[in-house]
Amino acid sequence: MCGIVGYIGYREAYPIVINGLKRLEYRGYDSAGIALFDGEHLKVAKTKGKVVDLEDKVKRELTTDGHIALGHTRWATHGVPNDVNSHPHYSNSENLVIIHNGIIENYESLKKALKERGYTFKSDTDTEVLVNLIEDVMSKENLKLGKAVQVALNQVIGAYAIAVFDKNKPDEIIAARLGSPLAIGVGKDEFFIASDASPFLEFTKNAIYLEDEELAIIRLGRDVKIRKIKDDSMVDPYVQALQLNLEQIEKGGYEHFMLKEIYEQPSAILDTFRGRLLSNEAIIKMSGVEDNMKKFLNAERIIIVACGTSWHAGLVSEYIFEDLARIPVEVEYASEFRYRNPVITEKDIVIAISQSGETADTLAAIKLAKSKGAFVFGVCNVVGSSIARETHAGAYTHAGPEIGVASTKAFTTQITVLSLIALRLARAKGTISSSDFRHHLIELELIPDKVKKALESDSYVKTVADIYKTAKNCLYLGRGYNFPVALEGALKLKEISYIHAEGYPAAEMKHGPIALIDEQMPVIVIATKKGHYEKVVSNIQEIKSRKGKIIGVVTEGDTQVKDLADHVIEVPETLEALSPLLTTIPLQLLSYHIAVMLGKNVDQPRNLAKSVTVE
Ligand code: M6R
Repeated sequence: MCGIVGYIGYREAYPIVINGLKRLEYRGYDSAGIALFDGEHLKVAKTKGKVVDLEDKVKRELTTDGHIALGHTRWATHGVPNDVNSHPHYSNSENLVIIHNGIIENYESLKKALKERGYTFKSDTDTEVLVNLIEDVMSKENLKLGKAVQVALNQVIGAYAIAVFDKNKPDEIIAARLGSPLAIGVGKDEFFIASDASPFLEFTKNAIYLEDEELAIIRLGRDVKIRKIKDDSMVDPYVQALQLNLEQIEKGGYEHFMLKEIYEQPSAILDTFRGRLLSNEAIIKMSGVEDNMKKFLNAERIIIVACGTSWHAGLVSEYIFEDLARIPVEVEYASEFRYRNPVITEKDIVIAISQSGETADTLAAIKLAKSKGAFVFGVCNVVGSSIARETHAGAYTHAGPEIGVASTKAFTTQITVLSLIALRLARAKGTISSSDFRHHLIELELIPDKVKKALESDSYVKTVADIYKTAKNCLYLGRGYNFPVALEGALKLKEISYIHAEGYPAAEMKHGPIALIDEQMPVIVIATKKGHYEKVVSNIQEIKSRKGKIIGVVTEGDTQVKDLADHVIEVPETLEALSPLLTTIPLQLLSYHIAVMLGKNVDQPRNLAKSVTVE
């Protein structure tokens, strides 16, 4: 869960690597560092804090000339965030320097052995162990850097995306990956290395995505050479043309990425179903589903594995798969699933949901399911990500880059894809009538405009945020399809404003949480017209009689909840199954405004990172 960037070529390396680090800060932001080679000297600057703190430090300490640089932005795993533990790390001789995203699990035994051979360590990190292991292999076996990295990595247990530079061989960088992403940008007489393609988009659209257990020798004046780390076989580099553009990864006039991404939802949802939903012909076309229709139709059960917001999207889809396609569904936290010896058979379909496609627990759950013979289908946003590649088939959400740590458009586009799949299967199984099917398609097509309408509540939501911004706790309640939305609303508030919040099925309130309600407690209740409306209204009465403050998310034109609640936020009417796509919008805005009013770092909340590539 760190970002790595490297450059070797004819341009000034420093600004490229610093800007690249800024784009990758979503991956981790507790410390940052850079190694620069000016043709003669290898220099390192690193600091606890963000990339701007690194820039200040570099201004004070270094000259920035040079055409080779490696940079790192960190999310601490081994060793607290401080200057010493920040990357890059030197080897003992200070000839080698390394940047690393991942975890070397057996670093302690390797460190012990290296200490016995006279190596010393400044930091608490696993990464400093790895660079010294490489140095040790190089000197002991008299190997070139590339070969030494390969031999060292064969001794390592864990995950990594690394870039290593040797000042005695200043025309090459060695990069390798296992479990953590690594892209190589291929320009004319220059190369870029990065955790994703965003740092080099303005320089080249040609990229090689390293596969697991591959090592790349990136040498100026030559093609990139790729080898398998284990068996040393050569791999033909596959250079792909990137579809991403710079605009997509910039804030485009919004104060925060999160706000931009909330507002992108109408177009993101449209992009998700574009070409897949043909309402005139009453057809849903998704090649990943069509090609595997037999498997889907024969499935006895669908198991959904995911984490965080993606898990919430999975919960929403549980309702729609069971309701419309009549397939039993279990939704599992990937982290629990992988460690509890689950019963999985060849008749199960596992759907893995992940925005980043890099979440370690989800990836491990996929591998487990595959090993038991299940067919695994991925729902990812990031094209070419590890999960997209590890699954048997899948469907992309096409949401475009999501940079704010708090997921917003990922959630609604995941629900859109999963709804399309459920509807397609329902049609194929005959569990939905053709008129009902058509009705769902027509309603789904209207969702982007209805999301636009829901966004019009923004200034009112801001007023509500101002009233409740100092709350210490919040409850979120919903029933049926909107219970997972309550969970998601609570997660959004927690992660960016640090206010304690819980989501509950509204009816569960009286089994415990109702004891928390007093005049200090804001309760956000999703009470849209379809779906247990009267029951939710009764729950609202129960809150009101205990003096809780009620913020209702209601269907346009509602009067009943309006009479009871302290505030109501309206969303357009739609089918119950699609209502989460609308009810989630005011909850995203509410947490956003509260966090901004509290002065929190909305896009980079404390202790978090965008993709959780460690267990
Ligand atoms: O990339 P993924 O969808 O696999 O990420 C899963 C979670 O880490 C992620 O949804 C996380 O909970 C977000 N910060 C929520 O906003």
